[in-house]
Amino acid sequence: MEGSSRIPDGFLLGCASAAHQVEGGLENDWTRMERELPGSIDDGSESGIACDHYHRFRSDLELCAHVMHNNAHRFSVEWSRIEPAEGVFSGPALAHYRDVARTCRELGMEPIVTLHHFTLPQWLADAGGVLAPTAPRLFARFAATVAEALGDQVRWWVTINEPAVYVVLGHLLGVFPPNHTSLSETRLGARGLLRMHAASAMAVRAVAGSHGWKARISIAHHERRIRPGRALASLDQAIAGLSDYLFNRWFLRSCVSGRVLPPMGRGERVTGLRDSLDYIGLNYYTEASAEFDITSPSRLFMRQRPPAGVPLDRFGNGIDPACLGQALHTLWNEFHLPILITENGLADSGDEVRTRYLVDHLSAVLKALDQGVDVRGYMYWTQMDNFEWSKGYSQHFGLYSVERSSMERHAKPSAAVFAEICQSRTLPAVTTEPSRAR
Ligand code: FCB
Repeated sequence: MEGSSRIPDGFLLGCASAAHQVEGGLENDWTRMERELPGSIDDGSESGIACDHYHRFRSDLELCAHVMHNNAHRFSVEWSRIEPAEGVFSGPALAHYRDVARTCRELGMEPIVTLHHFTLPQWLADAGGVLAPTAPRLFARFAATVAEALGDQVRWWVTINEPAVYVVLGHLLGVFPPNHTSLSETRLGARGLLRMHAASAMAVRAVAGSHGWKARISIAHHERRIRPGRALASLDQAIAGLSDYLFNRWFLRSCVSGRVLPPMGRGERVTGLRDSLDYIGLNYYTEASAEFDITSPSRLFMRQRPPAGVPLDRFGNGIDPACLGQALHTLWNEFHLPILITENGLADSGDEVRTRYLVDHLSAVLKALDQGVDVRGYMYWTQMDNFEWSKGYSQHFGLYSVERSSMERHAKPSAAVFAEICQSRTLPAVTTEPSRAR
């Protein structure tokens, strides 16, 4: 292994999760889709009680802290639970999440809180979701309420998880609620999310200011390295460049400029957007190659293919840890903001490739750190196998498996390796060859 294998003091190491995927017992736009839209979940499942993490959060967090020696933990608060009807806030739900954040602290884990991770309360979905003109104001009120309740425990905030993924899957490809396939809605949705981010960032900052605590705010940006499929085909190069701009850069650049950049807008200013990022939250999984495809105008004339010559994940995406290194460098060179890796992980039911994936990706992170990129931490996705959105329970990203009948958690071999890394703060050398994840 090249470079340093020592993980610096203060570097955050932990796991990430999202309420809908682990908590159970929810009523939001996703549970409605799972129930009412046949075929929306590949394995026919519903999220149901998920991992019952709502009731078992304490013992789950103890596994992270005591068994895996994590010093940070990312989780999301569920808007539909906290505000079950417009303007009606649930005291018990807020107290619950305060308890989760406080438990993280007591266990020595820095809490990282996501305000929106793919789900919406049904009342907002019915009013147009992220396209509703009121969405930024309503989201800001929700963010302020959460910040009032949890803020003295929480420094690291993620306003919106993967805005580009959310809008593409929900409004362009129709696989997430609201299951629409509309280019104009995609454009409006992207603008809506940008305004929601700006409004919520201002709201959290205002609460922080009035209480005298510091908030570090960002989004969780999903970066997928996109290379042209046929290196010499200029249309592939053009389409890879365009999708890289739209998917990987548009949101971040809009934040930094404070304006809705083309093609989603005409450069209009958005109050609170400029300097709304204190760091970049990075969700990094895989790479893809893009080919021009005249037959799919609804997909912006683009077809994504697995890249040649690298191992593939369960979804047919390429795994190349060097691409994470490149992503870190590119983001750092352009934005000069600290980077927190808010997600990185692999669906690997046999747990055969995960250890290698984890070590190689962490190794790429340490190399980037050595080369001067300001990376503050790494959250593995995810502690335990859970409800993987439209894939249902069929994809296994967890370091722990969950026996669905008893809800028992069982550590996989990769959990022991992650624990060893977090405890020793050193990377082991891994000698096995990468193979395809099952
Ligand atoms: C990310 C999502 C997360 C999980 C992982 C596998 O895009 O943010 O909720 O589904 O993918």
